[in-house]
Amino acid sequence: MSVRILSTSWLVGEALRELGNSFPKLLVTPFRSPEWNAALQSAEAIVVMLSEPIKESDIQAAPHLKAIGTYSVGVNHLPVSMCEAKGITIVNTPEVLTDSTADIALGLLLSVTRRIAEGDALVRSGTWLGWTPDQLLGLSLAGKSCGILGSGPIGKAFAKRVWAAGMKPIFWDREGCGGFVDFGPGSAPRLALDDLLQRSAVLSLHCPLTDSTRGLLDRSALLRLPRGAVVINTARGGIVDESAAIEMLESGHLGGIGLDVYADEPNVNPNWSSAPRTVLLPHLGSATVETRTAMSGLLCEGIAKALRLFE
Ligand code: DGY
Repeated sequence: MSVRILSTSWLVGEALRELGNSFPKLLVTPFRSPEWNAALQSAEAIVVMLSEPIKESDIQAAPHLKAIGTYSVGVNHLPVSMCEAKGITIVNTPEVLTDSTADIALGLLLSVTRRIAEGDALVRSGTWLGWTPDQLLGLSLAGKSCGILGSGPIGKAFAKRVWAAGMKPIFWDREGCGGFVDFGPGSAPRLALDDLLQRSAVLSLHCPLTDSTRGLLDRSALLRLPRGAVVINTARGGIVDESAAIEMLESGHLGGIGLDVYADEPNVNPNWSSAPRTVLLPHLGSATVETRTAMSGLLCEGIAKALRLFE
């Protein structure tokens, strides 16, 4: 069969099924299966997940390709420059996942600083002997500075949340320093990276993974954080030097880390599991029913538009 739309998943909700009802040349089959490889030949649009990297050779094998849809806001797994050069539209899912991703970052921050996962494990273990004055003491957030890397919608939504918890947001972004970032209920200074790192009791990452942010939080950047700083990463694992961060947890330079993303997903460096004061999630940033349903709608609309299906 000649396939027009090739997807590796039915997504959450009905949007892709509905698109398939109108345009039956839709094939849903696993990434890099023989069927997927064969369908590239005729596909006008492909839909992939953030865990399914598309190579330049895939584009070369798809002479009719007009659009690549990704069920994510991040596009670091796609050959963006080649798509631009060939006029292939990239359809991603910005905005609709802003709040849920900021929520999971806040959840990680609270879990790390208030030791929620450890407390849960203690109660479940049946070994809890009762309240004591110094049991599982954590860190307070109010009054502390929260460095935010990235001043896009998710960075701003996270700022809103930590501001509500009494923290003082400060931003770094790729546009340079100076001025203020308006995040809704307040505005916060945009600082040079070194300055921001030195002031951040908490550092949360909300920038895309690009050539300029890969390894941005390397050993020397992590060392600029104050002793005991907490790092939260819901952006991409490749922004952080994982080995350096693990060593700094062990040495006590870092006070804790909350991660939703890893450098080589789904392979997780096993040293994360033994490192102290970590909370580890399996890339759940956008994982709510409402958000994933909205992402499906946006993605299918974008594909239909790119292929001019309803004109
Ligand atoms: C995305 O969609 O790129 C995010 O990683 C969601 O968590």
